[in-house]
Amino acid sequence: MRQPEFHRLQVELGQRAYPIRIAPGLLDRRDAFAGLRFPQHVLLVTDANVAPLYAERVRRILPGNHEAALLVLPAGEQHKTLAMCARIFSALADMQASRDAIVVALGGGVVGDMAGFAAACWMRGVRCLQIPTTLLAMVDSSVGGKTAVDLPQGKNLVGAFHQPCAVVVDTDLLATLPARELSAGLAEVVKYGALGDAAFFGWIEQHADALVAGDTAVLAQAVHRSCEHKARVVVADETEQGERALLNFGHTFGHALEAEAGYGELLHGEAVAIGMLLAARMSSELGLAPLLDVARLAALLERLRLPIAVPSAIARRLDPSALLARMRLDKKNLSGRLRLVLWRRIGHAFVAEDVDSHHVLELLTDALTDDGG
Ligand SMILES: NC(=O)c1ccc[n+]([C@@H]2O[C@H](COP(=O)([O-])OP(=O)(O)OC[C@H]3O[C@@H](n4cnc5c(N)ncnc54)[C@H](O)[C@@H]3O)[C@@H](O)[C@H]2O)c1
Repeated sequence: MRQPEFHRLQVELGQRAYPIRIAPGLLDRRDAFAGLRFPQHVLLVTDANVAPLYAERVRRILPGNHEAALLVLPAGEQHKTLAMCARIFSALADMQASRDAIVVALGGGVVGDMAGFAAACWMRGVRCLQIPTTLLAMVDSSVGGKTAVDLPQGKNLVGAFHQPCAVVVDTDLLATLPARELSAGLAEVVKYGALGDAAFFGWIEQHADALVAGDTAVLAQAVHRSCEHKARVVVADETEQGERALLNFGHTFGHALEAEAGYGELLHGEAVAIGMLLAARMSSELGLAPLLDVARLAALLERLRLPIAVPSAIARRLDPSALLARMRLDKKNLSGRLRLVLWRRIGHAFVAEDVDSHHVLELLTDALTDDGG
């Protein structure tokens, strides 16, 4: 059998540079952690779904003379809270963690964002090692240093930029991920092709069946290519003053849909899939991009088992004006103007300033009455 590749990347951020290592079976390889110092105080943070599957295996493979302390938090976005962060701080305090402590985040984006935020705050910043276990976390949230928790008033309102010290990705972990979560992660993979890499978009089309079937070697390639994009953009624009905003292709529509539908109705990646299609349709309607590319995007998302329209049960109870109001609240808007990431064709996204909100409202009204259109 072919030996699985060991993909290596480096996020070049000067003194805060860090490696990303990707391969099926990587969590059985000690070289996954090469070059990392493991001090006395290591806290492994995970959630209740991931813990029984992988926590002991990770504890066994982590180098160092001291076994990591384990903190298992409840799973799910509703637990991405300050209260759970306080539990991480308590665990660090109980173990008398010092400034050379390391927090290991083993889980999806929820655990990664929370453990990353706790690491950013503990003694004004200790190291965080990310071991993502969902596809979304592997291709997106574990890289780039955005950390946050939610408040009842909104998502990710309290957070910090805090880059990890390394990201270790074992794509074999995706074998236990529910199929719907895998597809949601694939939406973020498509995003990288759609916004800036037409050749990668073509590669995803060629490998769509293997990706959706969970072929871990093909998934490792997709993760590598996605992380390459994310790392390049993060290095160019760490705190999202410019180019990093392109990573939000489909997200302004997507976040509004996710929030208005009620968190948990649409997974983040599902909302992003619909959002990318709305951004693509908007671009065509404004005469900026070919209609053919909308159809190509829709066909690919459908093959990846993602929704290409707002499911009618949700659409029926959504109000286009409320969606527009949500879009106006988006963090990406500056001084009340509607700012959207649109595209000129597959692989060529750009930030459109001052988008006419009447146009957006029409598009949203259509999207909610189309019944799958
Ligand atoms: N920091 C960033 O740049 C960034 C980017 C995108 C998204 N996010 C955040 O990421 C979060 C969403 O992350 P997510 O989609 O990974 O959700 P998640 O962390 O809630 O994980 C999804 C579900 O899968 C389970 N799970 C995780 N790994 C598993 C595995 N290998 N096998 C079986 N079950 C597994 C989890 O317990 C959970 O129930 C959101 O809070 C979002 O705001 C952050």
